[in-house]
Amino acid sequence: MGKFRLERILALAMGALLFTQAQAGSDDPFKQVEHFKIERPANLDASNAMDVYDNIIDQMAQGYAQSGYKSAKDYSNWRRDNNAPYLSAGHGNRFLNNYGNKISSGYLKLRRGQKMPAGSVLAKDSFTVTDDGEIFAGALFIMEKLAEGTSPDTGNWRYAMIMPDGSLFGDSAVKGDNSMQFCQDCHNLAKTRDYLFLIPWKFRPSSQ
Ligand code: HEC
Repeated sequence: MGKFRLERILALAMGALLFTQAQAGSDDPFKQVEHFKIERPANLDASNAMDVYDNIIDQMAQGYAQSGYKSAKDYSNWRRDNNAPYLSAGHGNRFLNNYGNKISSGYLKLRRGQKMPAGSVLAKDSFTVTDDGEIFAGALFIMEKLAEGTSPDTGNWRYAMIMPDGSLFGDSAVKGDNSMQFCQDCHNLAKTRDYLFLIPWKFRPSSQ
């Protein structure tokens, strides 16, 4: 294995680790969703996960909106591209939902070699369920497609992460903020499809 390749893999692994730590660290970036607990967390299937989500989405959206970021305010009114919250190892082991604004309407149909139009925004909220059945809101992950040539190093994507209380974890569009580099390192693996992984088939709406 070449040196470059090894370094790259190590960098990715580090990124994933930091990511998990940032999410689950002792200084608790998570925010517990108040007055809501479920009885049998181990049996959480898609429809139960959807019920949980229906109960907490408003509270989560209010938290992210505090950031003042427009997408964080608007996203919960956008198209949702998954039919139920799904577990993702890529973003820490948490339940995710994917939303996209109008400009991003071609998201799930994007083929290799194609690119999303500038102005597309994809937003992914998240929550965790502990073994005790407690629900915690997680971060909001945002990818925004910038105008061609604005940020060639990131494939013209802007990466941002907003915590459940509305504080900003990082934003690649802020000068000198490298904290979102690990997002890009991993999304680079999907470079041939404009850095997008798309969501698992099983969780796409049946019309797709
Ligand atoms: C270790 C790999 C990895 C890291 C790190 C990562 N992602 Fe992702 N991301 C994925 C995968 C895999 C998917 C698609 C499946 C899923 O949702 O888990 C995805 C999907 C997304 C999507 C939906 C668009 C798409 O690709 O289909 C957004 C938005 C997103 N990630 C934002 C972020 C942001 C912002 C960060 C950093 C704060 C980040 N991601 C870090 C692997 C990663």
